[in-house]
Amino acid sequence: MASEKRLEVVTCTAPVNIAVIKYWGKRDEELILPINSSLSVTLHQDQLKTTTTAAISRDFTEDRIWLNGREEDMGQPRLQACLREIRRLARKRGSDGHEDPLPLSLSYKVHVASVNNFPTAAGLASSAAGYACLAYALARVYGVESDLSEVARRGSGSACRSLYGGFVEWQMGERADGKDSIARQLAPESHWPELRVLILVVSTEKKPTGSTAGMQTSVETSALLRFRAEALVPARMAEMTRCVRERDFQAFGQLTMKDSNQFHATCMDTFPPISYLNDTSQRIIHLVHCFNAHHGQTKVAYTFDAGANAVIFTLDDTVAEFVAAVRHSFPPELNGDKFLKGLPVEPVPLSDELKAALGTDPTPGGIKYIIATQVGPGPQVLDDPGAHLLGPDGLPKAAA
Ligand code: DP6
Repeated sequence: MASEKRLEVVTCTAPVNIAVIKYWGKRDEELILPINSSLSVTLHQDQLKTTTTAAISRDFTEDRIWLNGREEDMGQPRLQACLREIRRLARKRGSDGHEDPLPLSLSYKVHVASVNNFPTAAGLASSAAGYACLAYALARVYGVESDLSEVARRGSGSACRSLYGGFVEWQMGERADGKDSIARQLAPESHWPELRVLILVVSTEKKPTGSTAGMQTSVETSALLRFRAEALVPARMAEMTRCVRERDFQAFGQLTMKDSNQFHATCMDTFPPISYLNDTSQRIIHLVHCFNAHHGQTKVAYTFDAGANAVIFTLDDTVAEFVAAVRHSFPPELNGDKFLKGLPVEPVPLSDELKAALGTDPTPGGIKYIIATQVGPGPQVLDDPGAHLLGPDGLPKAAA
């Protein structure tokens, strides 16, 4: 047919998520099945997102991928697992009888281009947004409509939680084949409009141990991790779900901090020990507890993943005062005016009482910058053809 399209192309975006009940440890390395369930908050894509274009064509001779403009090896096992899984789902759909006949496009090779709107150098976890976006874009281009948890999860465990907006749980599941290890939304982003998120990007020289290797050693050596997963996380999941449902910030904040601390305790219990927190991280923890003690209640909460950056949860009425406290304790070194990115935060003066309560000597330059954001929606399809990162020839556009 002369009118047949030579190129099927789709562009999607996907968000970053931050766990408040942490995933750490796999029971199956190949299928990426966790030893405990986890719960996360999806961050808004206005501040942090991955954009991915997937294109298929019968003219393509091999699967190819470009990340932030550079071609990468499509042979990486996790990329291969995602591709295999999406093609399996597409085949399944085509052979379901009442569905469309097996699409020819299944035999087509795919080209993928992906970019982040935030600097990878900031050390912010980009793999969750990246693999969620890949799964979403591949599903659209191959016509897959089923649950994508497994596709995203095979790229990176935490990526399955980036398939939804708002508040998301990843149920660990019980089956050996992982079919019940899926993400699902607990509440949409509109559920708790006052919730705010501040990412404190901490200066680091050293690259930390990656999550995959770190959690593997933890599973092998930490008895504390096993105890946490089996005896503590189930009740914590239930309690965190209640906190979210009832928008109980006090309890939400406390459990978020305790779960982050427990995760880092399991890292210390790993042998040889792993430490992701640096001096500045410890000072941030101290600052948060001083701030809360001054107010006599939990107004802000921290959480840390496999790195020194802090993610702070608070409510809209507390953002300005907390940012002023951060500026006071960590005076910006070079980029005074660029210190705050994302949502606008009005400058407010700090009371002498709060200054006194914060105590410790200021640490200039300990925090590089702050990104102010909020809870956001899940992956989106971009309809504007101008958004495609691949041109009509299936290769990255010059700007991509
Ligand atoms: C500390 O999902 O990056 O951020 O499944 O090996 O790719 P892999 O690990 P990954 O681990 C995330 C660990 C964490 C906690 C969390 O996000 O739940």
